[in-house]
Amino acid sequence: MLNKNKLIITEGEITLKTLIVFAIMILVPFVSSAEMDRGKMLYDSWCAQCHGYEGDGKGYASGQYTLPQPRAFDSGTYKFRTTPSGERPTDEDIIRSTRKGNPGTTMPPWTRFTDDEVNEMVEYIKTFEEETFEYDAEPFQMGKAPAVSDALLTQGKEIFDKAKCWECHGKAGRGEGEKGWQDNFKNDWGTRAYPTDLTQAWEYRGGATVEDIFRTVTSGFDGTPMASFQSSYSDEERWSLSHFVTSLQTERKTGSALSVKKVDAVPASTDDAQWDAADYLDMPMSGQLMFEPRQFAPVITNVRMRSLYSDSEIGVMIEWTDKKPNKGDDGLPSDAVRLQFPVTVSDGPEKPYFFLGDKNHPVNLWFWKASDNTAVEQNAKGQKENDLVQQEKNDMLAAANYSDGHYRVLFRRPLDSGDENDITFTPGKFIPISVTAFDGAQNEQGLRATVSGWYYVMLEPPTPMKVFVMPPLVGLAFIGAGMGIRKKLKEGIG
Ligand code: HEC
Ligand code: HEC
Repeated sequence: MLNKNKLIITEGEITLKTLIVFAIMILVPFVSSAEMDRGKMLYDSWCAQCHGYEGDGKGYASGQYTLPQPRAFDSGTYKFRTTPSGERPTDEDIIRSTRKGNPGTTMPPWTRFTDDEVNEMVEYIKTFEEETFEYDAEPFQMGKAPAVSDALLTQGKEIFDKAKCWECHGKAGRGEGEKGWQDNFKNDWGTRAYPTDLTQAWEYRGGATVEDIFRTVTSGFDGTPMASFQSSYSDEERWSLSHFVTSLQTERKTGSALSVKKVDAVPASTDDAQWDAADYLDMPMSGQLMFEPRQFAPVITNVRMRSLYSDSEIGVMIEWTDKKPNKGDDGLPSDAVRLQFPVTVSDGPEKPYFFLGDKNHPVNLWFWKASDNTAVEQNAKGQKENDLVQQEKNDMLAAANYSDGHYRVLFRRPLDSGDENDITFTPGKFIPISVTAFDGAQNEQGLRATVSGWYYVMLEPPTPMKVFVMPPLVGLAFIGAGMGIRKKLKEGIG
């Protein structure tokens, strides 16, 4: 008990009080240094695993495994700036990168921090290379984007040609320019550089709005082959160029199922107008990481699927960006693509293992190779070499086209091939499908591949059915389903 008048402390409380005093003694300097070094503390907790405790970009989660690699802040070179090439970024630039992240990379957008916390991290990041930040930054004025017009787009296209953007980004803007094909096309950090596929707006590291693009072409990305065009073109010209770049972008449509329309006859060529009119499903791709040899940094990041069917046949068309074509005659494997279906579709959620199936759930594979431009049918029940067999009877027809960094591969097959090792397509049924792509330039073949997860195709029944055979999946997002079907689906689920 504490006797206030006499300030006598009984034994039991001495311990308590001493403890509190000690705690305060330990805490006081700790708190103040924590306040001082909150930027470091936050950085060490949230950024260092990628950017490194020393700011060298070599955190344990960075590795040789990610491309692009986390910025090495100790290099003092920054890609994302509102300052001329070679100059330091403004604090706002570092804040923008932190807040918005860099799409298509492992750098996430950070929303969990207060503005003060971000500012303190920025101050800390700047200490990794102080020389860069000795002088104040002189940002260029962004001004305001002019409204887009046909004349502006025409002017933008002219500048795209004149400035030779196509040498790297290609005529179609898919990043297929031959400069980017060379193995020695590198960033200052020694990593392989790839010209951006400008059609894939969702992957622009620096943002894909016309303002973002204006900032990029004005500043350039220091440390990469993407130069600054600030002095070669006026603001007005760079705005029209930026508008032209946005006109190359296509809409990404993600979901979990593609609804397949019925037509009189499935078109036999890849450039039939019916394909362009057909809806598509975009499938994000990632490297195969489960089995050796793994693929950590795939270059094919998206595959687009369209499909149509007739009374007798189904056609599935896969398209993707491949910046450099490989036919297997250049010492590298041939480009290829493979569709995967379960041999038997279960009525429940059960699906084969996502990569080449498993013992109890064999898969039916449709495999096309650029080297001989033919497609074959295979079956697999696992990842070992012996688990994969080529079918003797081939019911597959394929057509393919490569132009301007873009593959289109069309597979056609009877809805029911009469072969028990083949998938059979029944309208109204959700049929699992996944895609594996092989980029020869990335030495992809066999197990080293780029893969999607499982998706579904559903052949729209010609006359509305009462009940769809719906896999028990919450939140199945449908691409291309007519209103009638969506309503029916809701009724079916509800
Ligand atoms: C999971 C990995 C990862 C984490 C965690 C991470 N980053 Fe990054 N960061 C990256 C990568 C990769 C890049 C490079 C993107 C590029 O080059 O296009 C990057 C780029 C940046 C840039 C752009 C620099 C430039 O060149 O202009 C800034 C700024 C940045 N990060 C700040 C942060 C901060 C602050 C944190 C912690 C709050 C953080 N990052 C956490 C991976 C990460
Ligand atoms: C010498 C090759 C080269 C030329 C020429 C070139 N670029 Fe680039 N560009 C690149 C590379 C490489 C990147 C990717 C940089 C990175 O993030 O690593 C890039 C990135 C970009 C981006 C940024 C996309 C993003 O991720 O935010 C835009 C926009 C762009 N370029 C537009 C242009 C335009 C417009 C021109 C012509 C005025 C042009 N580029 C000329 C190589 C080039």
